[in-house]
Amino acid sequence: MAKRSNKAFYITTPIYYVNDVPHIGHTYTTIIADVLNRIQKLSGNKVFFLTGTDEHGQKVEKAATERGLKPIELADQVVERYKDLWKDLNISYDFFIRTTEPFHEKGVQKIFRKLMEKGDIYKGIYKGWYCVSDENFLAEDVPLEKGGYKICPDCGKRADVVSEDCYFFKLSAYQKPLLDFYAKFPAFVRPPSRMNEVVSFVRQGLKDLSITRTTVKWGIPVPDDPDHTIYVWFDALHNYLTGIGYDWNMELFEKFWPATVHLIGKDILRFHAIFWPAFLMAADFPLPKTVIGHGWWLKDKTKMSKSKGNVLDPYLILDTFGPDPLRYFLLREIPIGLDGNFSHEGFVHRVNSDLANDLGNLVQRTLTMIQNYFNGKIEETEKEEKIDKEIRLEFDNLKKKVLKFFEDYALSKALEEIWAYISSVNKYLAVNEPWKLAKDQSKRKRLGRILYQAAAALRGISYLLFPFMPGSSEKIWGFLGEEEPIQEESFSELKFENLKLGQKIKKPKPLFPRIALKDFLKEEEKKSSPARKEEKMEQVTFDEFKRMDFRVGEVLKAERVEGTDKLLKLEVDIGTEKRTMVAGVADVYSPEELVGKKFVFIVNLKPAVIRGIESQGMLLAAEVEGKATIPFFDKDVQTGAKVR
Ligand code: MSP
Repeated sequence: MAKRSNKAFYITTPIYYVNDVPHIGHTYTTIIADVLNRIQKLSGNKVFFLTGTDEHGQKVEKAATERGLKPIELADQVVERYKDLWKDLNISYDFFIRTTEPFHEKGVQKIFRKLMEKGDIYKGIYKGWYCVSDENFLAEDVPLEKGGYKICPDCGKRADVVSEDCYFFKLSAYQKPLLDFYAKFPAFVRPPSRMNEVVSFVRQGLKDLSITRTTVKWGIPVPDDPDHTIYVWFDALHNYLTGIGYDWNMELFEKFWPATVHLIGKDILRFHAIFWPAFLMAADFPLPKTVIGHGWWLKDKTKMSKSKGNVLDPYLILDTFGPDPLRYFLLREIPIGLDGNFSHEGFVHRVNSDLANDLGNLVQRTLTMIQNYFNGKIEETEKEEKIDKEIRLEFDNLKKKVLKFFEDYALSKALEEIWAYISSVNKYLAVNEPWKLAKDQSKRKRLGRILYQAAAALRGISYLLFPFMPGSSEKIWGFLGEEEPIQEESFSELKFENLKLGQKIKKPKPLFPRIALKDFLKEEEKKSSPARKEEKMEQVTFDEFKRMDFRVGEVLKAERVEGTDKLLKLEVDIGTEKRTMVAGVADVYSPEELVGKKFVFIVNLKPAVIRGIESQGMLLAAEVEGKATIPFFDKDVQTGAKVR
C-alpha cells in the first residue's frame, strides 16, 4: 500500500445565525467545506471538519421575541433544521459547535481575561451607528441620509445610534503586524483579489474595536463585569478554537490548530481576515493558513432576501433530486470566489445534460453491455490498441490535473476536466461501436477490451467525483463490484488498471432520473408554500386536536408595536371576554384594515410576552413567501363561535 501523507487538516465553515432557517446560500459554504474535507481524507490526511451555529446577539434575541420564544428555544429549533439539512446533504462534519454551550462560553471568557491582563482589551465609551441586522457598527465613512439617519451598506436596513460604556480591543496596535503577516503569507486570503481588498483596507488605518455591549442581554457576560456582554463577533470567531478543544481537550487542539482553511462568504471577509488574526496574535495563538472567501448565490439575478420572498429553500431541490445534483451544480457552475446565479432553468438543464445524459448514460450503457454480453464478468481481453491506451493515459493525465486543481481549491475546474474525460469515454464507445462487435463471436476479446476500458475509466471517474457526489459515486463503485469503500484507496493508489479483470459487475440502476423542467416547476410551485414543512409534521389524534380552542374573535382596536415593523397589538373580543394579542402582520396589514373585522384566533395558547406585551392568544394566518395573509369569513359569524 502506498504511503499516506497523514498531515493534520482543519477545515471550518462559518457558524450560522439561528435567527432564521437555512437557505441555498448557507448550503453552498458547507458543501464546499465538505468537498474539501473529503478531498483531504482521500489524500490520506487527518481531517477535522467543524461547523455549527452562532446563537448569541441582538439579531437572534429579536427574532426569538418576534416569535414569542426565548432565544435558546429558537436556537434549539433552528439547530435541528441545520442538522437535518446537513444529514440530507451528506455533509460529514466531525463536530457541530453551538456558541451557547458552556465549554465555548468559558473558553471565550478565558481569552477575554487574558487580553485584559495583557492590556489589549481596555474600557472606554463608544458612540456610533449600529446595524442590528448585521450586528455591526457602521464604518465612519457611511454617509448620512437626508432624514439624518444612516443606512447599513451591507443589508440596506436603517441603523441606530448607540452610545455606551464598553470594552475595546486594541486593533490599531495590530495594523503593522497584520500588514507584515499579509506580506509574508500572500496566500492567506483567497482568491488573490480578496487579499488585495483586505490589504488596502488595513493600510488605511485601523481603529480600536468595541467588543462588548450593554444593550444586548443575550450574550456571554464579560468576566467580572456582567452588565456587559461580549460582542457576538468576538464570541463567534473563537468557536474555531473552542470547537477543536481549546481549554477542554488540549490534545485535540494541539493536533489540529492552526486551522488550515476557514471557508466563508465574501460578506464576512473582514471579520476573518482582519479581526480574527489580530485577536489570535494578541492571545499568542498561531495563525490560520488560509481564508477562502466565496461569492454569493443570487436568485434569478437578484440578492435573496426574505422581504423579496425569493429565498431558496434547499428542500425544493433535495426532495426531488436528492443531494448530489445540488452539490454538483453549486460547485460546477461557478469558481469559488465569483457570484453565481441560481435559476431553476439553469439547474434542471445542467442536471439533465451533465448528470442524466453524460455521466448517467455512460454508466448505464457500459454496465448494461457488460451484463448483456458477458453476464457481468469480463474474463479475457485483447491487448490494448492505440485508442485503448489513449483512454487509459488520458485518465492518468486527468488525475494529475484534478489533483493540482484540488490543491488550488479550483473545484469547478476539476469538474470541468472530469466532464471532458466523460465525453472522451463516451466518444470512445461511439467510435468503437461495441454493440456491433457483439454480433461477431470472433471479436469477443476486442469487445472485452473496450468494455473493460470503459468500466475502468468509470471506476476512476467515480473515485474522482466522490468528494462532490459521494452517494452517486459509491453507487457506481458498487455496480462495478468493488467491495471496499472508496475511502480505502488513497489518491496516490488510484490507477486506471485497478479494476480487476473478472470482477463481477452488477446490473446498474438509474442514477439521475431526467426531470422535465415544466414538471419540476410545477412540483416547485406546489411545494414553495411554507405549509410544505408542516406536511411533514407528526400526526395528531382527534383528542389532541380538540384540545385547541379556536374561536371567532372581533378586532376592537389595533395599533403598531413601537420599534417593530411587523407587530400589531390587538384588542380582541372573543365572545366571553376581551383579550390582548400581538400579531406579526403589520408589514402587510394596517391597523385600520383590521378593526371591526372577525378572524380566527386560538385562545387557549399559553400567553407569551412579546416586546413587553402579554399576548393572550394568536391570530391565525397563512404564510406566503414570508408574508402573512389572514383568512376571513364569507358571511357574518357570531363573535366567540367555536372553529373546528
Ligand atoms: N454568524 C455569522 C458567521 C460567524 S463565523 C465566526 C454569519 N452567519 S450567516 O448565517 O449569516 O452566514 C453564514 C454564511 O452563509 C456566510 O459565509 C455567508 O456568506 C453565507 N451566505 C449567506 N447567504 C449567501 C448567499 N446568498 N450565497 C452564498 N453564501 C451566502 O455570517
